[in-house]
Amino acid sequence: MDTTETASKSQYTNIGTKKQWWKEAIVYQLYPRSFKDSNGDGIGDIRGIISKLDYLESLGINVIWLNPVFSSPNDDMGYDVSDYKNIMPEMGALKDFEELLTGLHKRGIKLIADLVLNHTSDEHEWFIESRSSRTNMYRQFYHWWPAENGTPPKRFSVFHEEGAWTYDGQTDSYYLHYFSRKQPDLNWENPSVRKEMYSIMKFWLDKGVDGFRLDAFTFISKDTSFPKIPEKYKNDYISFYASGPRLHDYLQEMNREVFSQYDIMTVGEASGITPEHALLFTGTNRKEIQTLYHFDHANWGRNPSNLHYPDASNRKLNSLKKVFSAWDNALKNDGWYSSYFTTHDQSRMVSRFGNDTQYRKESSTLLFTFLLSLRSTPYLYQGDEIGMRNIRFENIQDYRDLHTINYYKHLAATGGDVQAFIEAQKELARDNSRTPFQWNDTVNAGFSTGNPWMKINPDYKETNAAIAESDKNSILHYVRKMVALRKSMPVLVYGDYNLIETEGENQYLFTRKLADEEVLVVLNFSDNQGITKLPGNLIIIKELINNYKTATVVTDAQVLLKPWQAILYTIKPSENL
Ligand code: GLC
Ligand code: CA
Repeated sequence: MDTTETASKSQYTNIGTKKQWWKEAIVYQLYPRSFKDSNGDGIGDIRGIISKLDYLESLGINVIWLNPVFSSPNDDMGYDVSDYKNIMPEMGALKDFEELLTGLHKRGIKLIADLVLNHTSDEHEWFIESRSSRTNMYRQFYHWWPAENGTPPKRFSVFHEEGAWTYDGQTDSYYLHYFSRKQPDLNWENPSVRKEMYSIMKFWLDKGVDGFRLDAFTFISKDTSFPKIPEKYKNDYISFYASGPRLHDYLQEMNREVFSQYDIMTVGEASGITPEHALLFTGTNRKEIQTLYHFDHANWGRNPSNLHYPDASNRKLNSLKKVFSAWDNALKNDGWYSSYFTTHDQSRMVSRFGNDTQYRKESSTLLFTFLLSLRSTPYLYQGDEIGMRNIRFENIQDYRDLHTINYYKHLAATGGDVQAFIEAQKELARDNSRTPFQWNDTVNAGFSTGNPWMKINPDYKETNAAIAESDKNSILHYVRKMVALRKSMPVLVYGDYNLIETEGENQYLFTRKLADEEVLVVLNFSDNQGITKLPGNLIIIKELINNYKTATVVTDAQVLLKPWQAILYTIKPSENL
């Protein structure tokens, strides 16, 4: 089914841009383990989500990206699937999932499922069979390296410093895992693997799921002769993994066999993909996926030679501007990208990109204003709308994520500086965004009546949804307003993006323009106030939204900006700004 509707010339300045519901979507990423526990076992579950449907609807979002709920031993929190056609017991049952889907659809909200393509759990029956003998019919579902061929060629693991091959005594062979040892990589060269995956996709689509977030999809294609990694990729294994020889063939086949047969949204987690390649995945004629999200700003403020650590000198607004401008530019005529700050793999946006103490409200609302003003599909992560911030654990025992735990163990075993690592993880650890949602100021923040699977941020007494709801000036109310504004203004979705050069290094100004409508976005990414000059020929018509209550002085094409102030104006459309 193709619901493509080509925009008419009069309606859109950029006739390459086609109207699509998934471009207009405002996605809310829901991490079910930490959203709401319905039965007191300390783990968020599907019935918990069902009990909060009215809250989800109240946000104005129209798509939920649900992190994995499929059967899993949870070595990597659901990204190690042991049965793709079932729900893990602590999340509920298939009928709960169906009820959730119905409840969302009733409220006009779609659901995209998180599909793990690159690997399964080692407890998946395919792997149990595969490792049982060299002649088993599932042997070729995974990548095996017989020990008699010597040590396998070096491959890096995202989660293990010792590498991505693990020896398995049962058949005297090594198996490949780009992630944890409990996440063996599937062999996509094998047509039976692809067929199984398509059947899994159809199983969920036929249940009414509205699309997929494709986990680590850039890693699925491998040169199975496993050559030596070329020199240019020596320090950038992610890009090497993302340049597999048949990736596009697989995606085109997937599209032909599955995606093209449904009106769905497909968003890829595009590790290792640069703007130059974005069109190859999302270009309309390519018939692969619709949109993807990149990691170019996820390394912002990190040490480039060791991403586990922050590096303050790498926190320049200018580089953020470059990233977002480059992505917009790459896809301005065709294709589409997605934008986020927090995910379950990144720490809290207000802690990393804003100021989570003095300007928690102002910087949160600025970041939302920015996300919701870009020409890309915005992703809001649960809890950011109430200003949740990094928990900053002091003890390794409080962490649940193997990413952090394994690196800590590695440092401890090799005499590394574990204390420096703990400090670094306070800023960057994935668990910072995985702490339970703070509903109210009762016990366990109203998340669970039992013992929560992860500690709750002690700031929940002041930072919670109930307080945000009752305070008309809260981040939550602002988010609802900004979401509604984007939904009411196609220019914010489809309009051309033009960066405006600024004198000050803390301000980010750009315009969005669609036919005879133009919007100016003014953002002050800073704890300091400042004056920003507007281009001389720019004429402000009206203020659309402002994250400060007090009026902003606009004189002679100058705007006085308070710390982390964000404003949208409609302006008189001009040809050359
Ligand atoms: C993706 C997921 C991440 C997971 C990894 C392995 O990056 O977002 O959480 O650890 O894939 O599946
Ligand atoms: Ca539960």
